[in-house]
Amino acid sequence: MEVTFRKIQKEDMRHFKNWGKHDDPRFFQYNFEYDSQMEYDAWYYSKQRWIFRKVYGLFLDDHPVGFITLKHINYIKKTAELGIAVDPNHLSKGYGTKMLRMYLDHVFDRFPIEEMHLKVSYFNIRAQKSYSKVGFRQVAESYEPFEEQGYKDLIMERFPEQFDLIEGTLYTRFIKMKIDKNTYLTARDQ
Ligand SMILES: CC(C)(COP(=O)(O)OP(=O)(O)OC[C@H]1O[C@@H](n2cnc3c(N)ncnc32)[C@H](O)[C@@H]1OP(=O)(O)O)[C@@H](O)C(=O)NCCC(=O)NCCS
Repeated sequence: MEVTFRKIQKEDMRHFKNWGKHDDPRFFQYNFEYDSQMEYDAWYYSKQRWIFRKVYGLFLDDHPVGFITLKHINYIKKTAELGIAVDPNHLSKGYGTKMLRMYLDHVFDRFPIEEMHLKVSYFNIRAQKSYSKVGFRQVAESYEPFEEQGYKDLIMERFPEQFDLIEGTLYTRFIKMKIDKNTYLTARDQ
């Protein structure tokens, strides 16, 4: 099977309907809950607004096994935030870490970005491990509303020790991580 890393094109969107589904409600926000191809295409167009905001994917032959993108790009501070998701049918097989390395190579080699940031839930050890392996380091912790407020009851029922429901809003702890270009490139080229 051929593994490639490249920009996701509109024609690739038809393969996303073959993605698996997370059955853990803390990850429901990463499920594609779309019925029609038009909705997948709309997702693609929503990511194309900014020049850097191109979505890249890791492909197994034609199948996009994961995607990775930049958000909150700050051209003055030369910083950006990273977003990543792997097909739930292919979690924990090393694809996320591989894609992170390829994307950091790509962004730091070609774009005027000096620092990458991200925010990851405290409970999301799988993601934290992957980020640490490519060189991200923890810089802060925070306690904030969870990104997905749609499954509060289910989440509270299954993971009461990881969340609080305060005045109807679901809160959890986050870890903030970052990596700078020099550190990344020096470690990579050693
Ligand atoms: C985060 C994500 C991109 C990582 O990609 P991945 O391909 O699944 O991860 P990798 O296989 O590269 O690495 C995962 C690591 O976590 C470990 N791991 C997996 N499940 C784990 C668990 N439940 N607890 C602890 N460690 C776990 C794996 O063993 C591996 O570590 P190792 O290489 O030292 O053995 C992917 O899991 C994903 O899409 N998750 C859902 C969306 C998400 O969480 N996005 C990030 C939000 S900040």
